Order: sequence, then C-alpha cells, then structure tokens
Amino acid sequence: MSTLSSVVAPSFDVEKIREDFPVLKQKVHGKPLVYLDSAATAQKPFAVIDAIRRFHEVDCANIHRGVHELSQRSTAAYEETRAKAKHFLNARSKDELIFVRGTTEGINLVTSSWGRKNVKEGDEIIISAMEHHSNIVPWQMLCQEAGARLRVIPMNERGELLMEEYAKLLNPRTRMVAVTHVSNALGTINPVREIIEMAHKAGALALIDGAQAAPHIKVDLQALDADFYTFSGHKVIGPTGIGILYGKTKLLNAMPPYQGGGDMIKVVTFEKTTYADLPYKFEAGTPNIAGGIGLGAALDYTNALGIEKIAAYEHKLLEYGTEALLQIPGLKLIGTAKEKASVLSFVIEGIHPHDIGTVLDRQGIAVRTGHHCAQPVMDFFNVPATTRASLAFYNTFGEIDALVGGIKKVKEIFS
Ligand code: ALA
Repeated sequence: MSTLSSVVAPSFDVEKIREDFPVLKQKVHGKPLVYLDSAATAQKPFAVIDAIRRFHEVDCANIHRGVHELSQRSTAAYEETRAKAKHFLNARSKDELIFVRGTTEGINLVTSSWGRKNVKEGDEIIISAMEHHSNIVPWQMLCQEAGARLRVIPMNERGELLMEEYAKLLNPRTRMVAVTHVSNALGTINPVREIIEMAHKAGALALIDGAQAAPHIKVDLQALDADFYTFSGHKVIGPTGIGILYGKTKLLNAMPPYQGGGDMIKVVTFEKTTYADLPYKFEAGTPNIAGGIGLGAALDYTNALGIEKIAAYEHKLLEYGTEALLQIPGLKLIGTAKEKASVLSFVIEGIHPHDIGTVLDRQGIAVRTGHHCAQPVMDFFNVPATTRASLAFYNTFGEIDALVGGIKKVKEIFS
C-alpha cells in the first residue's frame, strides 16, 4: 500500500480546508465524524452558510420585482451567481443558464419542454446502462407519452460504456442521447466529448447529467459542445434546492416554457401571453433566492481552490482508497473503470450493505448503502445494493484508513 507521504498532494492543505466546514468537527456516536457520503450531498463551508444567513439577515427581498434597495441587492446577488456559473462551466452566455431545483428538475424541464415538442412516435432516445433514475424515468415517461423508444448503451464488467454498441444504436430516428458524465453508483467518468460528437454526427442532440461531475472535474461546455448540461448545487458544496440547467440558446429559444407564472412573461392578457426572454422564460415564480446566492458562494469557494487541484487531490485519495480496499479479503469493488472520480462502491461476501453501513455508522463513518437510485446498475452487477464511500476534497487519507479499520471491524462482527 502507498504511504501517506508519497500520495498527499503537497499544495493542498486539507487540514486548513477542513476548518472551513463546521459540520466536520463533530463526533458521532462518540467518534470523530468521517463523512464519506459527498455523492449524496456535499458539506457546506462557512462561506456558503454565511452568504445564506447574510441574505436573510440583511438583504432579504424578492428579486426582479422591486425598485427598493433590498430588492436591488438581492437581485444583484442572485444574478451574480448566474455569471459565476457561466465562468464555472465556461458557457458562452449567462442567458443559457436556467436556475432549477437541481439535476432532476433540469432533466425534467428538457423532457417536458423540448421532449414534448420534438419527440414523436417512432423516434428514439438513447440513455446508458449506468444512469441515475433521474436520467431514466423522465425519458421513459416521455417515450410512453410520445410512442417513442428508449434504447440503452450497455456497459462492461468494469462499468465502462461499450462505445461500439453505442455507435450501433445511433440511427436517423435518434433524437437525443442523454448520458451521465460521472456515474454516481460506480464513479465511471464517461467519454462524453466523444459521445456528444457521435450524437451530433447522427443528427441527434446530447444532454449530459453533470451531477457527479461538476464537483470533481473541470466541465468546459464550449469544449464539450453539449446541447444540455445540468448539475445540482448541493453536490458542489452549495445548498439543496438549487441547480443549473445549461441549454444552447437556439434550442432554449425554440422550446415552450416549462411552467407558467410570474416573472416568465412580457405581457399577459386573458387572450394571450407573451413570454420573457432567456433565461427568465423558464423561471416562473419566486425562485430559491437564498439557494441561488448560496450557490454563488459555493462556486467562489470552489474556484478559489481550483477545480483542477481538487480533481488531482481527489484522484490521489481515490487511488489510495482503491488500493486499501482491495487488500480486504472478500471485498469486491463495484465499478473499476480506468477513468473514475470519487466513488468507492463495494460489496462484502456474506454481509448485507445495510449491516455494513450500520456498523460503520457506530464508528462515526457515514457512507451510503442501497441502490443509489440506480437500480439497473445493481441488476447488472447482480447485487441488491452496495456500500458506497464517496469522497470530496475535504476528506483525508486518515479517513480512508478509518474506513478500512471500520470495515475490518464489520468483518469481525459478522464472521
Ligand atoms: N443522487 C444522490 C446519490 O448518488 C442522492 O447519492
């Protein structure tokens, strides 16, 4: 096994970073918290907590609706997040960035608005075998409604998509290819640039679920050329209930609104309504203003650390954790792709993942157990569930050692 000194990225002061995350300082069941569930939701730094608090304490007002000082301030802070997200994703324009509740709503917006208008009987939508339910069910619903066909790119035993099979699925009836950038259950980083290019060559569009990618690797929308890309704020150390959907201007302009209400209109009469320009056409009603402002603080924090540095440090953690877990007899990693980010999913012969999770919890170690909202992935690997340790830049090599020690204890108890 590697020694700590050989794997710690020298310029990444994780102990200093951890000071910014108050939740990490606590004990759970009398043991220091080891939080290894960041794929479910990431912890929040003071910068985010303070930004939300400041909004409620000092600037609280509705946005886009008032000439008064507080409304001006809250509008400016909220809209500033859109500009920060443009920079974070290297989007062409901030008007292509729609605030949504999270990735799930981002995908539902596309299936409901773009999908209902453009997907007809006999058309095909391609997803992959490793999708989260949020990138399966909305497409299934759309296909059922339209009489379209859902097709699935298969994967291999390592959890890598079979690109030759993908090529065979593409045909003139394909309207959309919707694939995750990084799998939440396996950690696989998919070759999305290639996937998008192939979709475009076949005359189809491409939507990328970025929920597990945005926190861990650089997302460059202009380089990727995705038609739609979406991620959730709470996985990038921001608050819950806020996220971003990117769509190309031309597509968004041609799509009908997703929801009707205030703020998404130009003129309303009982006979007819004209809609606001982008991005507001898709943002009906009072939004999650505090969440949007908190997300801005989260993106600032991430940018200050640098996503490339985060990726490099997390990669070292992942390599260290992979090597360490593979030493444990009876433990099998689920998801061993060559390109991976931040996820260590595993099963242990003869011990149910829920038992593993419960014993780890008694040692202060938080992991997720279950199907991770990716039941087809579990079916493929023929397991009912896995235990998933998921990493973030505030985790330490010592915490991986604690996980290994915790698993040894689980094995002692159940052997
Ligand atoms: N999608 C989240 C996860 O993977 C909740 O845990």
